[in-house]
Amino acid sequence: WGLLGVTALLAYLLGSVPFGVVITRAMGLGDLRKIGSGNIGATNVLRTGNKAAAAATLVLDGAKGAVAVLLARALVGAEDAAQTAALAAFVGHLYPVWLGFRGGKGVATFLGTLIALAWPVGLAACATWLVGAALTRISSAAALISAAVTPLWLWAFGQGQMLILVIVLTILIYIRHAANLARIKAGTEPKIGQKKG
Ligand code: G3P
Repeated sequence: WGLLGVTALLAYLLGSVPFGVVITRAMGLGDLRKIGSGNIGATNVLRTGNKAAAAATLVLDGAKGAVAVLLARALVGAEDAAQTAALAAFVGHLYPVWLGFRGGKGVATFLGTLIALAWPVGLAACATWLVGAALTRISSAAALISAAVTPLWLWAFGQGQMLILVIVLTILIYIRHAANLARIKAGTEPKIGQKKG
């Protein structure tokens, strides 16, 4: 339990690193929380117009989730611990200690943890996001579609042991996208790269 607790704490602290905020500030693009939706994720970084910054945010927010899982596997060596680390890193992104617990929506970190937990599921979830984005041109809609479809990929790839974790993460993603959902319904949610709807 001691080792599991330390691993979960490390995963939370790693997940808490707000790469979007750090990268936009380092590149002189301003305060991300005052841009676009005010969210700290790659979608909002793209609203600065800097694609490299957005790509770096996406990769690093995903990688922190993957690294947390791999760290738990290396330190504790059990899949339960890997799942706990995935949840801790995800919660870290949503409620980061460094930003007064006001964090992001968790999509990149969700995808990163899935890739590390079971890569076929992770890649299928990424592909679902891409299909959703191609169809809707809306990042939040793609994320909501991808999260909702993920249990199907668990079933397809025989990863049912991840179902409870995925349901919890999906519920949190939907809760964090409440404002996006309202904008999608009202037809005012901006398309990818657009500053306003
Ligand atoms: O990953 C977050 C995305 O789904 C929505 O971001 O900035 O449009 O609220 P944003």
